[in-house]
Amino acid sequence: MSDITVLGIFVADISFSGEKIPTTGETVLGDSYNIGPGGKGCNQAIAISRLGGKVNFISKLGNDDYGKLAINKLKKDNINTSNIVISNKHKTGVAGIHVDRNTGQNAITVIRGAPASLTKDEIDTSIIKRSKIFLTQLEIPLDVTFHCLTVAKENGLINILNPAPACELKKDFFRLVDYFTPNETEAEFYTGVKINNEKDAKSSAQKLLNMGIKKVIITLGEKGLFFSDGKEEIYINASPVKAIDTTGAGDAFNGSFSFALLKGKPIKECLEFANKAAGLSTTKLGAGDGMPFLKDLS
Ligand code: RIB
Repeated sequence: MSDITVLGIFVADISFSGEKIPTTGETVLGDSYNIGPGGKGCNQAIAISRLGGKVNFISKLGNDDYGKLAINKLKKDNINTSNIVISNKHKTGVAGIHVDRNTGQNAITVIRGAPASLTKDEIDTSIIKRSKIFLTQLEIPLDVTFHCLTVAKENGLINILNPAPACELKKDFFRLVDYFTPNETEAEFYTGVKINNEKDAKSSAQKLLNMGIKKVIITLGEKGLFFSDGKEEIYINASPVKAIDTTGAGDAFNGSFSFALLKGKPIKECLEFANKAAGLSTTKLGAGDGMPFLKDLS
């Protein structure tokens, strides 16, 4: 049995690091590259597993070389892959990622491939029912995501929705969510509040709570994070690190937050733990490959 079930995509991330991210029409000579696991769901599953959590990953892959790479990598990271659908009709997805090595900032294009065709019928929800926490994002078709969140809620799981990339959601989504974890740009998409300081974060979180979400965590990049459940508010500064690649920092946060929650830690400790994991993940090139291990966090 897995304690945490993650629904999401795997794509092969092809990351190019260099002096700058090219602008339109420009060619830049880069200095290093990495081909490794990516996709928000995959990264979050790796983050949980590397901390020692038992994790089940629901996804869909093509029957091709990147699909085989995915299964090998996930198994190596002790992730339960028995609920991954292998398709002969679709390709495994890829993401092209440009990274500015000086700031760690990135620009990403994701081709989702096989998981864009995932259907409700292809999912065996018994694995969700036997878990304690359900974690997902917005890279899987929305009807499938909604279906799994519903099953999880009906079976008493804690639902964590990382609304990335942000997209229009029907109102019914929000009542299924225990923890909603947008970054500042995603929070602005849902609330219209541009976040420049703690006061803005508070006002954005309040709007999200008014939509029926129970608890909100807004990650603010180098400014840290803000939590509110309408009663308690917590603001935490970002971990001081020299970032070389911020790709997957949000995934490190969501995965390690879920793990800390599973362990029954108080909310402030969960946030501090996840904040530290997110910071550490930015010190290596690659998203899935950059997820820290438990020993790195002690
Ligand atoms: O959150 C980072 C991830 O977003 C990358 O790994 C990329 O594949 C995209 O899904």
